[in-house]
Amino acid sequence: MRAVDIIIKKRDGFELTKEEIQFFIQGFTDGSIDNYQASALTMAIFFNGMTDQEATYLTESILHSGDVLDLSAIEGIKVDKHSTGGVGDKTSLVVGPLVASLGIKFAKMSGRGLGHTGGTLDKLEAIPGYDINMPEENFIKQVNQIGIALVGQTGELAPADKKLYALRDVTGTVESIPLIASSIMSKKLASGADAICLDVKVGSGAFMKNEEDATKLATLMVNIGKNCGKNMTAILTNMDEPLGLAVGNSLEVIEAINTLNGKGPKDFTELCLEVAAHLVVDGKRAKTIEEARNLLQHQIDTKEGLHTLAKLVKAQGGNEEYIYHPEKFKEAAHKIAVLSDKDGYVTHIDALAIGNAAMMLGAGRSKIGDAIDHSVGIVLAKKVNDIVKKGDILAILHTNKTQNDEIAQIVSDAYTIGKNTVDSRLILKIIK
Ligand code: URA
Repeated sequence: MRAVDIIIKKRDGFELTKEEIQFFIQGFTDGSIDNYQASALTMAIFFNGMTDQEATYLTESILHSGDVLDLSAIEGIKVDKHSTGGVGDKTSLVVGPLVASLGIKFAKMSGRGLGHTGGTLDKLEAIPGYDINMPEENFIKQVNQIGIALVGQTGELAPADKKLYALRDVTGTVESIPLIASSIMSKKLASGADAICLDVKVGSGAFMKNEEDATKLATLMVNIGKNCGKNMTAILTNMDEPLGLAVGNSLEVIEAINTLNGKGPKDFTELCLEVAAHLVVDGKRAKTIEEARNLLQHQIDTKEGLHTLAKLVKAQGGNEEYIYHPEKFKEAAHKIAVLSDKDGYVTHIDALAIGNAAMMLGAGRSKIGDAIDHSVGIVLAKKVNDIVKKGDILAILHTNKTQNDEIAQIVSDAYTIGKNTVDSRLILKIIK
């Protein structure tokens, strides 16, 4: 088999076989196929697409380029979730403890975030003492004991994806639905869960700018997962504003704690309940989404979800006092209000701009290895369809910087204020 023939076949619009895809990904991973040929193939895929079957073979080839977690030593159904990247997205911190409190095993490995705010791991590290590192056997033991573990990656999951993504990033081939789907699903499948709920973001702050493309991506990921024997759900959600109110690591942990106390922002609570409800049904604890939602609401009302978060924090070396007393989290030195300069209704909040402003405050990384300031971030005071008067607070910067004018301006510019309310739904579609 020759790499060039595979490239030509895809260039001419034909369907690749399992053997051809495996040969190419193996060769690319071990270095016998060079970057220039991989660039040509990814560009051919970009233009000609892939069938669901090809995308499944590609996912499996990337998945088997590295370690695959074996969770069979964990009793019961193991569930996982994934978001395609949102600003203010702390869903795992609420969904995990809620489903685990119902006896469903939530065994999650996360990566670190680049840009915006940190990823889930960085948020967890805002809790003093929380250790994201854990050998695989302890990970399995902890999930068996308390139903949940949220850790960094052990071993090397999908190394071919790392190499391929770096190449796509500099060859204009990131925005290809089969390449995105296989990239995400290879890593998810390597983490070993039985059921996976995907939150696919749509909108200006997301990879997928419109519902049509997001539907294609979500459908393909669901099909790949099902082809690999997993129970799959994808939820398409609107990313035309940040999720919840808090953007920034400790601020987001506090918001997650508030949500587990039944006092979270409406949109964030709604998304957590929806994602968790699908996992509860897939975890066979409820027959319908409605029944699952009732169970989850009960776990919030009785604080069982909160107690499970505290157990998780304690098991991973963190100080669980912070979960019951979030006022203990170190605050930023200054709070600066960003005010509205007109009357009207908020019609849009540029999530990407808010994420970038939070990163400039120090809440996220612009390059690998940058330090994160857990205490800083942005708390929105107004969300889409809220009424505002000139001089009202739109958002508050939590900052340790002395010069914040440029960042305050970015946050102010992120808000669009119009004369009328707009049609705004958080959950756009469910794909099973
Ligand atoms: N996230 C990924 O992990 N891979 C992509 O290709 C795009 C988003």
